[in-house]
Amino acid sequence: MREDDYQFRSPGYYIRAASQPFEARGAAALRHRVFVEEQKIFAEHDRDEIDLIATHLVALSTYAGEADQIVGTVRIHEEEPGLWWGSRLAVDRDFRHVHRLGTELIRLAVSTANGRGADTFLAHVQMQNVPLFERMHWRVLEEADLHGVPHARMQVDLSRYPACANPEEGWFRPVRRAA
Ligand SMILES: CC(C)(COP(=O)(O)OP(=O)(O)OC[C@H]1O[C@@H](n2cnc3c(N)ncnc32)[C@H](O)[C@@H]1OP(=O)(O)O)[C@@H](O)C(=O)NCCC(=O)NCCS
Repeated sequence: MREDDYQFRSPGYYIRAASQPFEARGAAALRHRVFVEEQKIFAEHDRDEIDLIATHLVALSTYAGEADQIVGTVRIHEEEPGLWWGSRLAVDRDFRHVHRLGTELIRLAVSTANGRGADTFLAHVQMQNVPLFERMHWRVLEEADLHGVPHARMQVDLSRYPACANPEEGWFRPVRRAA
């Protein structure tokens, strides 16, 4: 373990709905780093009208027991009664593949929609992420081109997720370290 490996410094992560300005700002900045600077899907910004109606979920690293940085985000919104979408899933590069933050954000996204009465939950998933979603009880409906990038339109099996009634509370995921 290197001293400068940020992900090793956090004793755990809060996974919850953003309810404070610093969380919203951190999620917006993370999305910009991932979708504009890294993936270059958008030239200037990735904001759209869905941001105004969506519930934004975040993963927060912790330091000395307090929430620290936004290291993951996803948003969910109800397009029409019962039909929910998840989008803009992103985990900070330094925190990928280590603590299952993407998995945790998908869990909270689907459970929150379930708690709000979803009967269908869909997402456009970048092709390289399809196996991750399939392991989490999503299935491919069809292929779709989105912003010039190949995606799979996927639907989750809602019955595999418990309903979450209080996403602002979310949960704390402690990091289990090898002894
Ligand atoms: C897609 C994304 C959100 C996933 O986030 P993540 O935190 O790395 O996701 P997870 O850690 O939950 O799972 C990723 C993989 O790491 C593996 N993994 C996670 N923790 C692990 C651990 N402790 N030990 C071994 N494997 C682990 C998972 O099994 C999974 O395997 P896969 O690569 O075969 O799918 C992230 O890669 C990202 O932000 N990518 C860029 C933006 C993007 O593609 N967004 C999604 C648009 S659909």
